[in-house]
Amino acid sequence: MKPRYRVMVSDQQTEYTCRQDENLLSEALNQGIRAIKRGCLGGGCGFCKVRVESGRYELGKCSVKVLTPEEKERGYVLACRTKPLSDLMIRIEK
Ligand code: FES
Repeated sequence: MKPRYRVMVSDQQTEYTCRQDENLLSEALNQGIRAIKRGCLGGGCGFCKVRVESGRYELGKCSVKVLTPEEKERGYVLACRTKPLSDLMIRIEK
């Protein structure tokens, strides 16, 4: 069984857990957390963009139209394409 990590949403004072082989958005939705905006669930719309403030993660394929290389460097990810590799602190910037 894959490890499960804590995901803290720093600006919403909420947290949930996410398995290493699941993405941050679907696990949030499964646990009734509506803090992250839901869109295509496929890395193409950018609605679920969040910033990782701390922790390690694996980012899957994303459209460069909605997540630029500069944003990636600054820690932005698409939650529907991100799997945790440690506990994470994320921020949802509207
Ligand atoms: S929900 Fe569309 S990019 Fe994540």
